Amino acid sequence: MIVTGTGRFSEALAGEMDADFSPIETKVFPDGEVYIRFKEPEKLKGEKVILVSRGESPNFNPNLLVIRTLLALKELNRLNSQIYLVIPYMPYARQDKRFLEGEALSIETVRGLVEKLAEKIITVTSHDRREEGEITGKTYNIDGTEAVIRFLRKGGFNGNSIVMAPDMASDTFVRKIADELGVESLSVDKERDKKTGEIEMEGELPDLSGRRLIIYDDMISTGGTMFRAVEKGKKAGAENIVCVAIHPVLAKDSLEKIEVLQKEGIEFHTGDSIDSPLSDISLVEDVAERLSEIL
Ligand code: R5P
Repeated sequence: MIVTGTGRFSEALAGEMDADFSPIETKVFPDGEVYIRFKEPEKLKGEKVILVSRGESPNFNPNLLVIRTLLALKELNRLNSQIYLVIPYMPYARQDKRFLEGEALSIETVRGLVEKLAEKIITVTSHDRREEGEITGKTYNIDGTEAVIRFLRKGGFNGNSIVMAPDMASDTFVRKIADELGVESLSVDKERDKKTGEIEMEGELPDLSGRRLIIYDDMISTGGTMFRAVEKGKKAGAENIVCVAIHPVLAKDSLEKIEVLQKEGIEFHTGDSIDSPLSDISLVEDVAERLSEIL
């Protein structure tokens, strides 16, 4: 068994699984086309290979991740490897419904393509199916909140903490985090203006004076959801605010805005599903555990 990929996550996964690691070289040509090369193809030939495919942010590019993944899978197929794809952030999972007739169901296409080329696929807190379990017969979704709980146990919370879901889709996960930590939770609902992307959150928060507010969401994309929740938390008098998410997509100028909030003492922590300056919550242990169940 051998783990291949780029960067820290894949090397750490190899360590955790007691497997060899073999690097991938990747670049983007001036015209935008993608290049990948397995540096030690002879080691991968006919082997059980765990391919780790991750993007990086800020400026996360889902298209780049999809193409890089497909190129790597196809080459591993040519090398007759038995492929287990680890793609901790599943791109295109946000378009999992047809809101208007004629819209392409993006996740179906993207997942369909990778599933044709891999034995099994492991992802984390996929937007279309956040709870743990099989999404299809080939793709398994890990619940990333286990890693969040481990992280918060190390000191990101105290008895005075309260965990908040900034939209109802995160409600179940926030309740789980709060239960595990033995603290309270609260959930609010949000509306996103379909044209401007502006977030509106309903209702006021209870008095949070002197309390530590932990806001959990599956991802920070434009940051609109988190920023609006932070505003609410400040208004309710929270003494300190910790923002936690699994996927640091960090679209547009969100990282700059986060840096401003960090200077005010607001903390931001995310999973390492995408490599980013905020990725200090490791998902490696959870992925390794699932792999050892299926290998
Ligand atoms: C919504 O369904 C998700 O859970 C997130 O709240 C959302 O995707 C975050 O996006 P943004 O950072 O752009 O508000």
